[in-house]
Amino acid sequence: MKIIFLGAPGAGKGTQAEKVAAKLNIPTISTGAIIRSALKEGTEMGLAAKAYIEAGKLVPDDVVIGIIKERLAESDCRNGFILDGFPRTIAQAEALDAMGVSIDLVVNISVDDATIVERMSGRRVCAACGATFHTLFNPSASGDKCDKCGAELSIRKDDQPEVVKDRLTVYHKETEPLERYYENKGILKTVIGQEKLEDTTALTFRAIGV
Ligand code: AP5
Repeated sequence: MKIIFLGAPGAGKGTQAEKVAAKLNIPTISTGAIIRSALKEGTEMGLAAKAYIEAGKLVPDDVVIGIIKERLAESDCRNGFILDGFPRTIAQAEALDAMGVSIDLVVNISVDDATIVERMSGRRVCAACGATFHTLFNPSASGDKCDKCGAELSIRKDDQPEVVKDRLTVYHKETEPLERYYENKGILKTVIGQEKLEDTTALTFRAIGV
């Protein structure tokens, strides 16, 4: 299956994408995670993306489209994949179509802005293995350390409240129009994000039919 997860920053795309990926045994491709890892390694692409990410702006389309083209050519994508955070603009969606990628389903996780701002303040991430936690809703069993690999947890730079507001503005302007784009193709399913992670997972599985 080829699935796209749409939704505002912090809607829970990454969290749900991991659950579906484990269930269907297909990879999750997160452009945000790929860019953050490039940034950590200090590659040319990572350094070029730094200012955009930290300001809550979108990285230019050509850079992200290039990342996706390369990643989808890898052998583990042959039996399907989940795109988390791509496409994020109409131009990116059109580029995906032009690559000949036929998407089966677009899951749009819908969460209101006030809930997003509240959630982001509690997100903690593991820079070593990429796991995501929440201080209240999904705490690590090891407190300030990652309960998967033991590394220290940290707060993402773009989770500062003023950056979150800018990311939401960008989302409404650039990414929300994709709902109509995929609705017109007849492949959009909207899942209303629930207060409990597992309730959203149940609705997501139902939308996908697994
Ligand atoms: P990216 O990493 O993709 O960030 P994002 O889309 O803004 O999404 P997030 O990772 O912030 O949130 P999420 O929806 O995955 O939520 P999560 O599951 O973590 O992108 C970062 C940046 O990279 C962008 O701003 C841009 O600069 C650049 N970029 C990336 N892709 C790009 C593209 N295609 N084009 C251009 N630029 C691009 O959940 C959030 C928190 O809430 C967690 O703490 C979680 O535990 C908690 N939570 C989740 N679900 C629930 C629930 N139901 N109840 C309670 N808590 C919950």
